[in-house]
Amino acid sequence: MKYHITTYGCQMNLHESEKIAGILNACGYDEECGEEEADIIVFNTCCIRENAENHAFGNIGALKKLKKRKPSLLIAMGGCMAQEAGKAEYIKRKFPFVDIVFGTHNLCELQALIEKKRATKKTVVSLKEEREMVEDGITPVRKSYPNAWVNITYGCNNFCTYCIVPYVRGREKSRAPEEILKEVEELVQAGYKEITLLGQNVNSYSGNGMRFPELLDKVASIGGNFRVAFMTSHPKDFSEELVAVMKKHSKICRRLHLPAQSGSDRILSLMNRRYTREKYLNEIALLRREIPDCEVTTDLIVGFPTETEEEFGETLTLVREAGFSSAFTFVYSPRAGTKAAEMEGQIPEDVSKLRIMRLVECVNRQTREKSARCVGQTLEILVEDYDGKKGFYLGRDSYGRMGYFKSDRDRVGEFVTLKITKANGVSLFGEEQ
Ligand code: 5AD
Ligand code: SF4
Repeated sequence: MKYHITTYGCQMNLHESEKIAGILNACGYDEECGEEEADIIVFNTCCIRENAENHAFGNIGALKKLKKRKPSLLIAMGGCMAQEAGKAEYIKRKFPFVDIVFGTHNLCELQALIEKKRATKKTVVSLKEEREMVEDGITPVRKSYPNAWVNITYGCNNFCTYCIVPYVRGREKSRAPEEILKEVEELVQAGYKEITLLGQNVNSYSGNGMRFPELLDKVASIGGNFRVAFMTSHPKDFSEELVAVMKKHSKICRRLHLPAQSGSDRILSLMNRRYTREKYLNEIALLRREIPDCEVTTDLIVGFPTETEEEFGETLTLVREAGFSSAFTFVYSPRAGTKAAEMEGQIPEDVSKLRIMRLVECVNRQTREKSARCVGQTLEILVEDYDGKKGFYLGRDSYGRMGYFKSDRDRVGEFVTLKITKANGVSLFGEEQ
């Protein structure tokens, strides 16, 4: 039988979809296909911003006709949106043709839910308040070779006032270091070349008393030709020890994703981020002192309640001062149940739109400048994919720079050294050395 999975959101969700594929395989759905031919369609949803939800609802709604034509088709919906308070009821009411709704804490039950659904006409809903076991025991069907994601923590305890993640992903739980190391060893043995350690806040990892820098040290000490990356880091938990471990191992990517969210101390405090602009910049200075060429990327939000023009301006100046090589930029989106959604002084959409345009422009200019400086340099990229439309192989280097080159044979999974001849936005074009 055939399956189709539609994934929204972050790396965590992309990896979870690999686990969903593993479960579907165990249920007899062993061939991936488009929606039209599928016997089961799974939506793995995101609720971090309203547009992520609207997008998912739009796509689920569009399946009504397909389901009518093909009543044997199963439609399941899981992920963060399914876990949101009241959403399962809403889905049952609005989209009665959805067969299964499952939350973020009970992925392991998906097989049982599919079996249950085969025996009933009703929508099967299964949600849990908290993750019971840290180890889910699911063997993922990995789709991102030569990269592999490895969860190290689940959930988040930070309660940034704008963010819904702690409500839908529960309290932070760390996997045992032995489990993580075993998984990474197996992946390296199997030929994966980049291992990304995943958590909402990897810096607060604490598995059987082991902290993140020690875990990272151990992961990077595993023998073999591979790179290690990690995300996401919270600036409040960033440490000298972490920088020391990064410096010690050339296997650890020379890039750090450190979400700043805002450049204004007043907004950072309202966001409950627990650091100041100065502390943030000091962390970057420390990183650059030890690893001068390390690239830093970030997440930035504009239009947080009560944000003034001047405070937004501080986010713009942060982009320069911190020297971000790129940034994910977002318009603040009120999420029901979070503190910020209740705050006075919500910013009108037209104001936020202007701010995001200015921010994107500022970030892009900096990205282009950095790219242009790469012309003439050499880059060692890990080849990730082939872009059939452009006719180029592409991959990223340890700094996160995207390199394109031509080759007449399959190069995916190889480390290739390129001499950069042209920069086009973030894309660097080169010739193999
Ligand atoms: N509105 C806009 N952006 C948000 N993020 C999280 N919650 C919201 C929200 N309510 C952004 C943050 C976070 C990234 C994953 O998504 O920048 O780092
Ligand atoms: Fe959300 Fe903050 Fe946790 Fe990140 S650290 S997931 S922004 S609450």
